[in-house]
Amino acid sequence: MRILIGITAGISAYKIPLLIRKFIKEGCEVRCIMTPDSTDFVSPLVISTLSKNPVGIEFWNKETGSWNNHVAYGEWADVFLIAPCTANTLNKLAQGACDNLLMATYLSMRHNTIISPAMDLEMYQHPTVKRNIEQVLADGVRVIPPDHGELASGLSGEGRLPEPETLYHEVMAHLAPQKDYLNIKVMVTAGPTYEAIDPVRFIGNHSSGKMGFAIAENFASRGAWVTLITGPTTLESSHERIHCVKVTSALEMFDAVKTHWDETEIGVFAAAVADYRPTQIAEEKIKKTSEDLSIELIKNPDILSWAGLNKSSKQRTIGFALETNDADQNARGKLARKNADAIVLNVLEENEKCFNSDTNKVRIFDVNGLALELPVASKTKIAQGIIDFITTIRV
Ligand code: PMT
Repeated sequence: MRILIGITAGISAYKIPLLIRKFIKEGCEVRCIMTPDSTDFVSPLVISTLSKNPVGIEFWNKETGSWNNHVAYGEWADVFLIAPCTANTLNKLAQGACDNLLMATYLSMRHNTIISPAMDLEMYQHPTVKRNIEQVLADGVRVIPPDHGELASGLSGEGRLPEPETLYHEVMAHLAPQKDYLNIKVMVTAGPTYEAIDPVRFIGNHSSGKMGFAIAENFASRGAWVTLITGPTTLESSHERIHCVKVTSALEMFDAVKTHWDETEIGVFAAAVADYRPTQIAEEKIKKTSEDLSIELIKNPDILSWAGLNKSSKQRTIGFALETNDADQNARGKLARKNADAIVLNVLEENEKCFNSDTNKVRIFDVNGLALELPVASKTKIAQGIIDFITTIRV
């Protein structure tokens, strides 16, 4: 494997020499490109010695008297890993800037770039950073989410560069992904549903769709054909194996699920479906005429229960549970009531906010009780753990 590593100016660049050693030890060829500022954080001499190759920093190479050819780097590499990827480089990637050798090489890669953003807590939470991550994902870049923990600033939270071992496995999984779901037909529901009150108002919830999208992406990367039925979210998936069906209300989601159910082998129901909808949708915007207003609600169909009732012996249903009290007991109750093969309980204890967060912590229950607990991790990692578990209960 030919691994091209792009190093940018972040404190965590100190981990990259160990990552290079790991790749070399495992028989990979490694070349590195550094942004000029990153040379203040880790020495090019160390990088060059460990990678056994010259390091590209500027377009013009003073030592060889020739230019560092960004196109040749792109052609040589099986994958381009940019780690750590600072907020500044992330912004350039999102914009398509081309003001240094690393950026020119990125633009020369054929859609095979992985980035590992690492920065301080507030920076990683900043809306521009979030926006730039969405943009590069839409451009086909794979993003390794940062770890949670102590940061160079002394703060603690999301933003740490994952350990070299983790980065190594992420790159290897990308280059030789498991294909244990090759051509299996999977359905995933994701996001919230919006239940209209009048032409401008609705009843909804804070689901972002991140958990469902992460599950869909992981299945697709393992070879499955995924029908992703999603309520309103800002997320998009560009994976060729994901067919996205966009819906708004619970009834629309129900119709989409019924349409695709017969061809489905595994259904994962991660959507936060509204349990009730207004009995009537007002034709005109409701006017503020009285001190109080009552809206009559009617129960929505339970989509997971419907799938549980209508599944054959070759189909599996996996639901989620979001509980604020008696969580384990309620999750078990849902498993039985909805005739699911497993229920993934979002554990709120250490992960106060699972809606719209990039992390989650889950406990998985099956007919035998608690089957697995996954500690707080990125939703990408949680999705991988859930699907590894589904492997144990599939037909
Ligand atoms: O989207 P994110 O911001 O990433 O957040 C992820 C999540 C918290 C939304 C997700 O992990 C999750 O837990 N989704 C299910 C939330 C939920 O509605 O839980 P519930 O306990 O109300 O429902 C139990 C199960 O029945 C779920 O699988 C749900 O999809 C399903 N259901 C519920 C009601 C209904 N009318 N139809 C259903 O299919």
